[in-house]
Amino acid sequence: MGYRTGGTRGNEIGLLDGLMTNRAMRRYTDKPVSDDDVWTCLQAAVQAPSGGNIQPYQFMVVRDPNLRLGLAEIYRRGWARYEPVIAPTEFPNDAVREGWERNNRATVHLAQNLEHVPVLVLLLMPSIDMTVHDEEGPMPVGPTHASVYPAIQNFMLAARSLNLGTAMTTLHRIYEDEVRDLLGIPERYEVLALLPLGHPTGKWGVAPRHRGAEKIT
Ligand SMILES: Cc1cc2nc3c(=O)[nH]c(=O)nc-3n(C[C@H](O)[C@H](O)[C@H](O)COP(=O)(O)O)c2cc1C
Repeated sequence: MGYRTGGTRGNEIGLLDGLMTNRAMRRYTDKPVSDDDVWTCLQAAVQAPSGGNIQPYQFMVVRDPNLRLGLAEIYRRGWARYEPVIAPTEFPNDAVREGWERNNRATVHLAQNLEHVPVLVLLLMPSIDMTVHDEEGPMPVGPTHASVYPAIQNFMLAARSLNLGTAMTTLHRIYEDEVRDLLGIPERYEVLALLPLGHPTGKWGVAPRHRGAEKIT
């Protein structure tokens, strides 16, 4: 096959097992991530569907320690402002409270340690409107975001297949202009997501979810 298969082939996990056991990983070891593995994730990302196959995104891979620190500081300020506002004051039962607290501890850990994650990947989305018009009016076939999120998910699933952890994060967007300044990203791009990428300390497993469907009719 023509695609680059990466240095560490990781595991031979099946597609369904990989996606079922993928979850937000927010604690990482110091072990470096190879360029081959990053490339494998990027190549999987761009295989995702996008409207008209226009692939309205750019990936920016940040390894430089000073830039990672700069991003971490911006992210931390976003988190410090956001977290107190969304933290629930009441829970329906202890199990829900414990689940939330567990998740929150991991979120706090990521915020406090983001600069130590070996690779930070940014998703840049051009501020374009993909809605086309004819004489009857607009044809709202889907927002630009809809052509970017599948690539993010593919990236994260490819990482899973290499035993690398990721988490979708967006708290940097609270101070997005500062991210653009730090990294010289032109104004025309939204910095849609920040994906930490590293070797996770946690275990893979099926994360709790509401049931998708009660029955199929
Ligand atoms: C649009 C979006 C934004 C998110 N932003 C953040 C974030 O800024 N920081 C973070 O730690 N997790 C963030 N998450 C991750 C979610 O918290 C995570 O997917 C959810 O808790 C489920 O985690 P699980 O798969 O481990 O159960 C975000 C997820 C999405 C889809």
